[in-house]
Amino acid sequence: MPETTKRAKRKVRLGFITGLEISEVSAELSSIVPGRRVDDNAHIMLRFNNGAKGMMWVSMVAAGHMHGLRIRVYGEKGRRSNHGFSQHRRYRSMTRTIGIGVIGMGWMGEVHSRSYRAIPDRFHESGIFPRLVVCADQVEARAQAAQQRFGFERSTTDWRAVMADPTVEAVSVAAPNGMHLEINRAAAQAGKHILCEKPVGRDPQETIQSAAAAREAGVLTFAGYNYRWAPLVQYARQLIAEGKLGRMTHYHGRFLNGYAGDPNGFLSWRFEQEHGLGTLSDLMSHVIDMAHMLAGPITRVTSDQEIFIRRRPIPQAGSGTHYDAGSSEGPMGDVTNEDYVSALVHFESGTRGMLEACRVINGAKCDMSFEVHGTKGAIKWNMEHMNELQLQWRNDANPAEDGYTTLLSGPAHPYHGHFNPAWGLNLGYDDLKVIEAYNFLHSIVTRQQGEPGFAEAEAVARVQQAIIRSWESERWEAVESSS
Ligand SMILES: NC(=O)c1ccc[n+]([C@@H]2O[C@H](COP(=O)([O-])OP(=O)(O)OC[C@H]3O[C@@H](n4cnc5c(N)ncnc54)[C@H](O)[C@@H]3O)[C@@H](O)[C@H]2O)c1
Repeated sequence: MPETTKRAKRKVRLGFITGLEISEVSAELSSIVPGRRVDDNAHIMLRFNNGAKGMMWVSMVAAGHMHGLRIRVYGEKGRRSNHGFSQHRRYRSMTRTIGIGVIGMGWMGEVHSRSYRAIPDRFHESGIFPRLVVCADQVEARAQAAQQRFGFERSTTDWRAVMADPTVEAVSVAAPNGMHLEINRAAAQAGKHILCEKPVGRDPQETIQSAAAAREAGVLTFAGYNYRWAPLVQYARQLIAEGKLGRMTHYHGRFLNGYAGDPNGFLSWRFEQEHGLGTLSDLMSHVIDMAHMLAGPITRVTSDQEIFIRRRPIPQAGSGTHYDAGSSEGPMGDVTNEDYVSALVHFESGTRGMLEACRVINGAKCDMSFEVHGTKGAIKWNMEHMNELQLQWRNDANPAEDGYTTLLSGPAHPYHGHFNPAWGLNLGYDDLKVIEAYNFLHSIVTRQQGEPGFAEAEAVARVQQAIIRSWESERWEAVESSS
């Protein structure tokens, strides 16, 4: 313990307090975590107008141990402390500040930043307080605009500066897929916890390498499989885990999303093999993760794929995020990764399944959905109707009432109550990212790896590897087990 602290403790133990004004203050700032460039710790010595002395210790770091607010008052007749505070008061007083860096300030970087800001509101009882330290984008104007918009302390065009900042404890990786492994490795080496957007690597091999880097460094990880977090998806998971559907026979999962249906949609990094896979990474990764969560591990696959729109306009530097479009009058380039993927799958449990994903489809807008069929009933959910769950229970006694009924999301379903206290008042996509960001930071506070982390992303990658092998062999392929 530093010498000044010892002295201050002696001072406060000698004093007695009777409802007074502070007349003198002296303070010492220090840093507890080696290498930090900011003071995260303050000792403040007090003198009251009647001569009593006191000490305050304020620390961003010690708050991580969840000691919260502690008050001790010493008088002639003994000592009083705040142990008598109600649980509620004590809990509210505990805060845990976590320094955040966000890399890639396109659509997802903005969503992650907004989500962190929402945590002290939506999950206020957790005491988690994300401190938005730095945002990075190679386009300076985007980095600066994000800094202003979300209140980051600073912005940079060099994502490596995020890793070098000792006040950053956790990073969000929202840059293009081809950069994920390099950024994840650097983050792991710098000891930062990582929330990486899916896919966690340019291709399955890179996702597996990201998982290995994080494992070796001992950092906590999270992957952006946000559809898991819909309250009614979590509820469906509970019903399945409790055996309410009986033995699962058949699983149908798909993600049909026409985001690239416009042939003039820019040839962004999404459509180029050198930056990663196409729909297999982008949409099918969500489908596989959801299938794993609800139906267990996939063990065998046979798959097909196609590119439907083969040429697209080349974007200008700094333009061309997810939904931007150009014109076929200008320069065009080749699409080099798949628009469409389908797969027949076997689950370890014996359940049979069909998975499908497409990015250029007409009709469907965000048909990220599943149908699960068991021996006692069935469940259907679709992101286009995120706040509804279709349930069917086998009713042999009264076949007239055997059929799907619809549940609306409400406070009895996981997480809904964090957003509103009413049945049928809807949550939206961004709310799922708030729940995701909260679960990531909660895992940091509790120091327990949550799901979905990079281990779950690796499990998805192993299925993707088998799918790619099946494109080549045109046969069933076994899924290798994770490391
Ligand atoms: N979970 C989901 O629902 C979901 C939805 C969309 C995208 N994503 C994922 O999020 C990630 C980003 O997608 P997006 O739609 O936000 O893309 P985007 O193109 O809108 O944004 C990417 C950003 O990264 C920046 N960038 C590029 N190179 C950089 C570098 N060297 N340093 C710093 N910044 C750099 C770009 O300038 C851009 O601002 C992808 O991995 C994607 O698969 C996930």
